[in-house]
Amino acid sequence: MTQPLKIAVAGLGTVGAGTLQLLDAQADILALRAGRPLQVSAVSARNRNLDRGVDIGRYAWYDDAVAMAREADADAVVELIGGSDGAARAVCEAAFAAGRHVVTANKALLAHHGTTLAEQAEAAGVGLAWEAAVAGGIPVIRCLREGLAGNRISRLHGILNGTCNYILTVMRDTGRDFADVLAEAQHLGYAEADPGFDIDGVDAAHKLALLSSVAFGSAVDFAGVYTEGIRQIAPMDIEYADELGYRIKLLGIAERNHDGIHQRVHPAMVPAGAPIAAVEDVFNGVVTEGDFVGATVLEGRGAGAGPTASAVAGDLVDIAAGRHAPAFGVPASALKPVPSLPMDRHVGPYYVRLMVIDKPGVFADIAATLRDAEISFESVLQRSRAPGDVVPVVLTTHETSEAAMQRALAAIEAIEAVREPPHMIRIERG
Ligand SMILES: NC(=O)c1ccc[n+]([C@@H]2O[C@H](COP(=O)([O-])OP(=O)(O)OC[C@H]3O[C@@H](n4cnc5c(N)ncnc54)[C@H](OP(=O)(O)O)[C@@H]3O)[C@@H](O)[C@H]2O)c1
Repeated sequence: MTQPLKIAVAGLGTVGAGTLQLLDAQADILALRAGRPLQVSAVSARNRNLDRGVDIGRYAWYDDAVAMAREADADAVVELIGGSDGAARAVCEAAFAAGRHVVTANKALLAHHGTTLAEQAEAAGVGLAWEAAVAGGIPVIRCLREGLAGNRISRLHGILNGTCNYILTVMRDTGRDFADVLAEAQHLGYAEADPGFDIDGVDAAHKLALLSSVAFGSAVDFAGVYTEGIRQIAPMDIEYADELGYRIKLLGIAERNHDGIHQRVHPAMVPAGAPIAAVEDVFNGVVTEGDFVGATVLEGRGAGAGPTASAVAGDLVDIAAGRHAPAFGVPASALKPVPSLPMDRHVGPYYVRLMVIDKPGVFADIAATLRDAEISFESVLQRSRAPGDVVPVVLTTHETSEAAMQRALAAIEAIEAVREPPHMIRIERG
């Protein structure tokens, strides 16, 4: 048999240990599919003595992952340390400098330095593969880069963070509030002790910036992603969404038009019958729209040892078989910056919930504010009357610009009878 592909693994946590397990368990089919064996030769982590559920005694150990990337007997380095800079970046750069391929699951690193790393890989004549960095086990990067290569992609949208999707699913199923469900998710290990990256939309924004780059052939522009999380979603909004025929999801949406690229991550109401609305629990889903193919829907597990290791292994098979496409689908020199359009250029329908004192004339004031901003209603809902008390009033609008909506919301908030800042959620076509 031909020479094995020798692999050095940096980082032996959830994904690293899962990758070693997969490479062991599937060695036979991997060798057949790659045309040669995949053989781990060296590993590195912080603590050599930790029990990781895998026997690492048979691999060369390195305390210093960068030294491993530089010196180990390896053709490819798998970076599974994490973080947007520091050791992870140094490992990748050392591997390129030594002429080794890199496979990584690190969306934070790529969102910040993806274009530069792609240039470095290309200059070194090696591959930079990162299927595992976006939507875990779903082969969405390969799908965009290869399967849909015959299309110009105009739009994609997806559920890119399993933690948020789990929280929103449980909130809808049980009627419980955000803080309560988040605490449970942390207890179950679905959310980190510091959940900010997930629930504030940053993790989804990292992934969206990477998907945009592959979809549109543009330089990675994480700073251009408008980002909002799910902390403000109340059970009442989920109920109203149901009543109006929608589901609330944290979506990442990227659209290309003549002026540039719109990249945004925020809670969105999608029609209950849309494919993305059916993606529940910890699952991820991505819908792409190509000019020749139309819509393509992908769904699967977005994280966890098995799904993420599955994506790492797929990348390693490609490298072993000599297939290494440019990291973002086109040569790094073609990854040009494209203007990211500001959020106030967004146009769409909106859902707005107001908490108002139930008294005559309030609604006329709200309606006048919207009229002044040239926003027209689609529907108005007020479930019950309670004169003198605070009651919810829900409006949905026809298409309007974000700039007009923000002006109207500021004016509505100033109305004396409006008792909380308005709760606004954008409505998407799904
Ligand atoms: N977890 C998932 O489901 C998932 C899904 C998709 C992508 N990812 C990405 O995959 C990467 C790894 O995530 P993870 O969940 O596996 O993280 P993790 O469980 O925290 O593991 C990180 C590993 O890196 C090691 N490490 C930290 N600093 C190091 C250094 N300076 N040198 C060498 N090793 C170092 C740690 O060593 P010790 O074990 O000795 O402390 C640990 O083994 C991240 O980029 C993450 O975003 C994760």
